[in-house]
Amino acid sequence: MDCVKLVFFMLYTFLCQLAFSSSPPHLCPKDQALALLQFKNMFTINPDASYYCDSSHPRTLFWNNSTDCCSWDGVHCDKMTGQVIELDLHCSQLQGKFHSNSSLFQLSNLKRLDLSFNDFTESLISPKFGESSSLTHLDLFDSGFAGIIPSEISHLSKLHVLRIGGQYKLSLGPHNFELLLKNLTQLRDLNLWDVNLSSTIPSNFSSHLAILTLYNTGLRGLLPERFFHLTDLESLDLSFNPQLTVRFPTTKWNSSASLMYLNLYNVNFTGRIPESFSHLTAVQELDMSHSNLLGPILWNLTSIEILYLNNNHLEGPISHFSRFKKLKTLSLGNNNFDGRLEFLSFNRSWMQLEILDFSSNSLTGPIPSNVSGLQNLRQLILSSSHLNGTIPSWIFDLPSLRLLDLSNNTFSGKIQEFKSKTLAGVYLYQNQLEGPLPNSLLNQPILMFLLLSHNSISGQIASTICNLTMLTVLNLRSNNLEGTIPQCLGEMNENLWSLDLSNNSLSGTIDTTFSIRNSFRVISLHGNKLTGKVPPSLIICTYLTLLDLGNNQLNDTFPNWLGDLPYLKILSLRSNKFHGPVKSSRNTNLFPQLQIMDLSSNGFSGNLPISLFGNLQAMKKIDVNTRTPQYVSDQFAGYYDYLTTITTKGQDFESVQIFATNIIIDLSRNRFEGHIPSIIGDLVGLRTLNLSHNVLEGHIPASLQNLSVLESLDLSSNKLDGEIPQQLVSLTSLEVLNLSHNHLVGCIPKGKQFDTFENNSYLRNDGLRGLPPSRDCGRYDRVPQSTIPLELDQEEEEEEDSPMISWQAVLMGYGCGLVIGLSVIYIMWSTQYPAWFSRMDVKLEHIITTRMKKHKKRY
Ligand SMILES: *[C@@H]1O[C@H](CO)[C@@H](O)[C@H](O)[C@H]1NC(C)=O
Ligand SMILES: *[C@@H]1O[C@H](CO)[C@@H](O)[C@H](O)[C@H]1NC(C)=O
Ligand SMILES: *[C@@H]1O[C@H](CO)[C@@H](O)[C@H](O)[C@H]1NC(C)=O
Ligand SMILES: *[C@@H]1O[C@H](CO)[C@@H](O)[C@H](O)[C@H]1NC(C)=O
Ligand SMILES: *[C@@H]1O[C@H](CO)[C@@H](O)[C@H](O)[C@H]1NC(C)=O
Ligand SMILES: *[C@@H]1O[C@H](CO)[C@@H](O)[C@H](O)[C@H]1NC(C)=O
Ligand SMILES: *[C@@H]1O[C@H](CO)[C@@H](O)[C@H](O)[C@H]1NC(C)=O
Ligand SMILES: *[C@@H]1O[C@H](CO)[C@@H](O)[C@H](O)[C@H]1NC(C)=O
Ligand SMILES: *[C@@H]1O[C@H](CO)[C@@H](O)[C@H](O)[C@H]1NC(C)=O
Ligand SMILES: *[C@@H]1O[C@H](CO)[C@@H](O)[C@H](O)[C@H]1NC(C)=O
Ligand SMILES: *[C@@H]1O[C@H](CO)[C@@H](O)[C@H](O)[C@H]1NC(C)=O
Repeated sequence: MDCVKLVFFMLYTFLCQLAFSSSPPHLCPKDQALALLQFKNMFTINPDASYYCDSSHPRTLFWNNSTDCCSWDGVHCDKMTGQVIELDLHCSQLQGKFHSNSSLFQLSNLKRLDLSFNDFTESLISPKFGESSSLTHLDLFDSGFAGIIPSEISHLSKLHVLRIGGQYKLSLGPHNFELLLKNLTQLRDLNLWDVNLSSTIPSNFSSHLAILTLYNTGLRGLLPERFFHLTDLESLDLSFNPQLTVRFPTTKWNSSASLMYLNLYNVNFTGRIPESFSHLTAVQELDMSHSNLLGPILWNLTSIEILYLNNNHLEGPISHFSRFKKLKTLSLGNNNFDGRLEFLSFNRSWMQLEILDFSSNSLTGPIPSNVSGLQNLRQLILSSSHLNGTIPSWIFDLPSLRLLDLSNNTFSGKIQEFKSKTLAGVYLYQNQLEGPLPNSLLNQPILMFLLLSHNSISGQIASTICNLTMLTVLNLRSNNLEGTIPQCLGEMNENLWSLDLSNNSLSGTIDTTFSIRNSFRVISLHGNKLTGKVPPSLIICTYLTLLDLGNNQLNDTFPNWLGDLPYLKILSLRSNKFHGPVKSSRNTNLFPQLQIMDLSSNGFSGNLPISLFGNLQAMKKIDVNTRTPQYVSDQFAGYYDYLTTITTKGQDFESVQIFATNIIIDLSRNRFEGHIPSIIGDLVGLRTLNLSHNVLEGHIPASLQNLSVLESLDLSSNKLDGEIPQQLVSLTSLEVLNLSHNHLVGCIPKGKQFDTFENNSYLRNDGLRGLPPSRDCGRYDRVPQSTIPLELDQEEEEEEDSPMISWQAVLMGYGCGLVIGLSVIYIMWSTQYPAWFSRMDVKLEHIITTRMKKHKKRY
């Protein structure tokens, strides 16, 4: 009997459906169709409005009078009443203002409204949303709303799903957040991603919560323990709330059987993860990176596939993780894990592992050679540990490897041929690798980063390297490469930003011609045996920021045409065979950004370049940030360097990064003659001025007193005469002064910094009085105690031929009174990096997956 009823019922439903589909009645009420059309007409269609959608589609395009609105794309009507109850316009390319008078609010029966991934150009969210009291689903995710979310939203007490996040300019006062949680008692899915809540989390909220996304919402205080007892909780994302304190219950929690996704990246979690974690039997993805976690890991996560624990203080043997059998991503970088990697060889259950990051731990020993279970590995990151031995061949054989980072270990032996054709990043720098560059590395269609510096790689750079059409950073610094620079390098592709071949044994001329559409920022050929001239086509490198041709054998006149490069900040031609005068045209904007000009140790002659000094706009400003030096703060520190060699304060600094404030002119060791032009005093940003070892004559210009941030002044070994201008006492930043070996006379100025300089600053002058400087000079000192030349003791005489050593001795003489805070010097770069320029590593992957989640949350 029951059975008959059932069949009858099914037949009935079938017939009903048949009836509806065969002859669709005109269901849609006219006023609702009109409202929808009016709504449609408020917006333009622009694919950019749905930028983050995998595929977007202009649903409203074919809405028109001639068809029933219930059949329009994205519109759903109640089958019985014909009322519009559902409007799904996600990823519909809508762009324009969403006004309070929008006709959409006339659709009073709406249950589901999805406007996510459109662009309502910073419209306010109208309080009228609060009148759509039938709504169970409201999705405004990433739709370009801005301003304060009206409290009326909490009138929508039937809501199951509320997604307002994903827009950067929304906020919700603390009071409204509490109201919202309290009144929306049916909520299952709440997404306030990036909404400024600046609030604590109240503990009075819907017990149905399954998905809660509060990424970067300015949460404070303690996470209510109630969360851990929500029996339906599946996904909890509280990441990027550094002031939110999280403490896990130490006993089994009720959520633990349902929770699949837990993201606590960068929250305030201090201490250990309790063993109660072992009850998280469903969790597939866990991110607790950057969370100050301590201690060894004593818990098991049997279902875990994606695990981020990087940047904590975790410790214990790395082999612990071999018990997690389902891992796809394991990111443990920047912790204190130790031990060896042997477990990799018997872990055949890791077939699905794609990303493995053990970087910056204290791992030791070799990578085992008999590993067969990691065939799906895409990223292998083992940098900055104490690993050694040869790189085993299974790594070179991995079929889908994209990123290999073994940098900063002590791996030795050769780099073998790679099987994979999918490499995007190869970081092997700072090891002891030897042998030639493998051919397979030069034949990679998507290789962007090739960083092999500081090894012993030998042989030539084959011109097939120019087949790397995606190459962005090529760093082969400090190896044993020889032969010539491939001519094609300058025109190989438009992506190459950084070319660093410094400190090798490359020879020949620089015959490269650069192509019009290059994007070079850094070209460093320092420390090779290059001959010939500066290639004229460098002028095409519009974005060039650093050009270091120092320590070669280039024989050319001053390439003043480089002054037209608008972004050039660092120019080093030191230690070559440049000759002739340094001339410049009358152009008033030469070298507009230049902050380091190093022409030292060449054969330049003639007068100092007055008209050039008249340009150099960047040196005519004092950086206001001098007290808090800025460092390279971006993600490519270490991968993408602006390194050069400078001399300052009497010391050489090889391959250092530069402070943004470091402004240097070094013209030492040339044959410059004539006077020091007083226009140098206009270059008020100078920190180091070195004109030593030339044949300059005349007086020291008093205008040098304007160089108020000057730290190092070296005018030694010239033919300067006259007195030391008394005004120089005002140079209160001056740490190192060298005026020795000139013809200066008169009293040494007194006071301030001048009281700290010792005899060595003044050695070998004609008639300087007041030495040692502590001794009085002038009207109180009738008998000049000592005049220059000083009687040098034997030791100093011997050092005559090696001024560098004596200079260091000078520095040592200062003891603790002088801090040489120059260990590492950085430049903060203000230039625009293309968005694609990001390190191809876990971080990027993380960002991408986070972005993806943004989508995932929607669907
Ligand atoms: C009206 O919509 C239908 C399909 O929905 C489409 O085929 C037709 O071209 C549209 N007419 C106009 C005038 O846009
Ligand atoms: C749709 O039809 C209504 C009348 O039924 C008319 O007033 C309106 O102008 C039409 N709209 C369009 C876009 O054709
Ligand atoms: C809605 O309001 C905006 C500005 O507040 C106005 O420009 C627009 O014409 C109004 N639209 C309707 C249909 O009243
Ligand atoms: C809570 O929801 C009820 C029912 O819709 C509503 O009447 C009330 O105004 C809401 N309270 C607040 C504070 O929004
Ligand atoms: C968030 O809102 C609070 C006030 O509610 C404000 O003080 C704070 O500056 C805002 N934060 C951001 C990042 O806009
Ligand atoms: C982090 O939590 C600790 C207690 O576990 C607390 O003392 C500290 O103030 C919190 N830090 C922040 C930034 O909230
Ligand atoms: C974790 O699993 C290992 C072996 O799979 C077992 O020896 C250990 O007792 C488990 N630890 C906990 C806390 O469950
Ligand atoms: C190299 O690794 C050591 C630790 O092994 C670390 O201290 C150092 O900062 C790393 N250097 C670079 C350039 O990453
Ligand atoms: C690797 O380092 C260990 C010490 O951690 C040392 O005992 C071993 O000899 C090294 N092996 C090689 C090949 O350098
Ligand atoms: C490099 O590209 C050229 C032409 O594009 C091709 O003939 C040559 O075989 C390539 N070299 C390698 C090593 O793939
Ligand atoms: C530079 O080249 C010229 C010829 O072009 C040559 O006469 C001169 O000797 C060279 N200078 C040095 C220092 O080698």
